[in-house]
Amino acid sequence: MYKACLFDLDGVLVDTAIYHFQAWKNLGKQFGYELTEEQNEQLKGVSRVESLNKILDWANYTATQEEKSVWLIEKNEDYLRLISNMNPSEILPGVLSFLEQIKALGYKIALGSASKNAEIILDKTGLTPWFDLIIDGNKVSKSKPDPEVFLKGAEGLGIAPEECIVFEDAQAGVEAAKAGNMKAIGIGESETLFLADKIIPNFIGVKAAELLQF
Ligand code: G6P
Ligand code: MG
Repeated sequence: MYKACLFDLDGVLVDTAIYHFQAWKNLGKQFGYELTEEQNEQLKGVSRVESLNKILDWANYTATQEEKSVWLIEKNEDYLRLISNMNPSEILPGVLSFLEQIKALGYKIALGSASKNAEIILDKTGLTPWFDLIIDGNKVSKSKPDPEVFLKGAEGLGIAPEECIVFEDAQAGVEAAKAGNMKAIGIGESETLFLADKIIPNFIGVKAAELLQF
């Protein structure tokens, strides 16, 4: 029935949200703005450009194109520095066991991430070999909640969207999965992920054969 599992990266397989938060916070200081954790929650799943636009909005700061271009580069350089020492210990608990189970059950596995740094992170954490296909921010033109990233994943795997299950920690990502006609499993809290078909707090002790029953 279901043939593929499509994973978001940040916040589902690894906890890079802390590094994005740190880098955006550092950047905000340039225009005298202090980003909060609640606001960071709203940046999950949101592309780099859109994240900057949101922060500038919150800060009530009208930036020139020039400033924006410089800040996007600076933020990413800072982020790359922060993730430079990432290693397999930063794979979130239970993830490897879950990947082993779904591989054994015969599911295809794809990545569907908005991040343009996804391949670096997968390599540093040793996750790359698990994936049959990687769709990241370099391969899409529309950000979640648009379903493009997941539809490209399904298409690349040669599997119908209705046969795909998406794993997401962001509201925008769950919306993207539903808009793509896929099942969505939310990883995290029901307050933000209520549109998902199922919600689990994390992958610890999860039995894939049970979870993937719909
Ligand atoms: C993920 C994260 C977002 C991030 C986006 C772009 O969706 O949840 O916080 O802004 O990727 O990441 P990038 O690595 O390309 O800046
Ligand atoms: Mg995420």
